[in-house]
Amino acid sequence: MLNQTIEKLLNQQIAKELYASNLYLAMSGHFAQANLKGMATWMRIQSAEERGHALRFFDFVIDREGQVEIGAVEQPPTEFGAPVEIFKQALEHERKVTASIHNIYAHAVQEADYATQVFLQWFINEQVEEEATAAEVVERLAMAGDDRAALLMLDAEMKSRAD
Ligand code: FEO
Repeated sequence: MLNQTIEKLLNQQIAKELYASNLYLAMSGHFAQANLKGMATWMRIQSAEERGHALRFFDFVIDREGQVEIGAVEQPPTEFGAPVEIFKQALEHERKVTASIHNIYAHAVQEADYATQVFLQWFINEQVEEEATAAEVVERLAMAGDDRAALLMLDAEMKSRAD
């Protein structure tokens, strides 16, 4: 059985992961419209991964005989800035997700909920990787600066990595 506080936090995390999925899909749409197909594909894959994260939490709540509750998911922005700003936004978002997962972990420790601690370990590792990947793209976009050719090269590279 799930402790009520943990159940609530896990359910909130489902909505947060779904928000991240929608945010990255919105970013993918923006990049596609700007003809930056590599970044559009990268964000689309990222969006699908986030939905996968939401489903992991969903399945875990059910496996623990908890009650799933899908909360309201806020609308993502409709306007975006330059690519470097978009990836900075994605990095900031990942940092918030990391903090949220750490908060659930801290509660799981407090409640001696060992199964949740083990479950969250996958996410704790995943967040290290997600932050590092987003930070790398931010740094490379910052290096490209206003150089359109460098931007297109980076876009092509992101497309092939996604493939
Ligand atoms: Fe589900 Fe990117 O954290």
